Amino acid sequence: MEKRLTGKVAIVTGASRGIGRAISVALAKEAATIVLTARAIDKLKETAEQVTAVGGKAHIIPAELTDEQSIKDLVRATGERFSRLDILVNNAGITHSSKLEETATEDWDRCHNVNARAPFILCREALPLLKKSEAAYIINIASVVGVKGYPSQSAYTASKHALRGMTISLSEELKGSNIRVHLLCPGGVDTDLVQKVRPDIKKQDLMQPEEIAELVLYLVTHKGNAVIDELHIRRAASTPWF
Ligand SMILES: NC(=O)c1ccc[n+]([C@@H]2O[C@H](COP(=O)([O-])OP(=O)(O)OC[C@H]3O[C@@H](n4cnc5c(N)ncnc54)[C@H](OP(=O)(O)O)[C@@H]3O)[C@@H](O)[C@H]2O)c1
Repeated sequence: MEKRLTGKVAIVTGASRGIGRAISVALAKEAATIVLTARAIDKLKETAEQVTAVGGKAHIIPAELTDEQSIKDLVRATGERFSRLDILVNNAGITHSSKLEETATEDWDRCHNVNARAPFILCREALPLLKKSEAAYIINIASVVGVKGYPSQSAYTASKHALRGMTISLSEELKGSNIRVHLLCPGGVDTDLVQKVRPDIKKQDLMQPEEIAELVLYLVTHKGNAVIDELHIRRAASTPWF
C-alpha cells in the first residue's frame, strides 16, 4: 500500500532536535520529503539520517529564523528544488525565564522574533507554494502558555499568544481553501527546552516528542470534513482542563 505522504513536501522548522526532529521522523515514516531547517548543521544531519532510515527523503536548508532574508531564502530554495510545498510546520521556538520587571527588551524581542515573527514570515512566503497543493497544511506549534500564563514567562507567553492569534486570523482567511491551519498547545515535553523552563517536572512525567509528532501526522493525513482547529495536549500527571 502506498504510504500516505508519498510525493508530499514538508518544511519542518526546529528540525535539529526535540519535537521538530520527532515530527520530521513521523512524516518520513509516511514517505514525505522533509526540508529540515534550523541553525545546527551537524544536528540537522543527524535528523536527516533518521529521516532516511525510516523511508523519507531529507533535504537540509539551514536558516536563522530571526533573519527575514534567511526565511525568504529557505522558502525560495524549497520552491526551486521541489516546485511544491504541502506541509509547513512552524515548530522552532525559544523560551525565556525571568520576572517581567527583570526581563530585558532584547529577551522579549528574541522570543517574539523566533516564536511569532518567524512563523508569520514563513506563512506569508510559503502561501503561494501551499496554494498550489491539492491539500496543504500549516501546523503551528504554540504551547499551553499560548492560552494561559505562568509567572516568570511573560516574554515566552506573550509570543505564543501572538502565534495563536495569527493562527486564528489565518484560519479565517483560508477558510474553504485547500489549506488547513492547525495549532498545537502542548504542555511539558521531554526536550532541551523544558529542562530550562520547568526543571521541577520529573522526567518520567513529561510527554515524549514522538507523542506530539503522532498528532501532527494525524492532522496532515486526515482529509475528512471534521477539522480540529486547536489541540491542547497535557501531561497525564497535570491538572485536567488546565
Ligand atoms: N518542550 C516543551 O515542553 C514544549 C512545550 C510546549 C511547546 N513547546 C514548543 O515546541 C517547539 C519545539 O520545542 P522543543 O522543546 O523541541 O525545543 P528545543 O529542543 O529547544 O528545539 C528548538 C528548535 O528550534 C530551533 N531554533 C531555535 N532558535 C532558532 C533560530 N533563531 N533560528 C532557527 N532555528 C531556531 C533549534 O535549532 P538550532 O538551535 O539548531 O537553531 C531547535 O531545533 C517550540 O516552539 C516550543 O516553544 C515545547
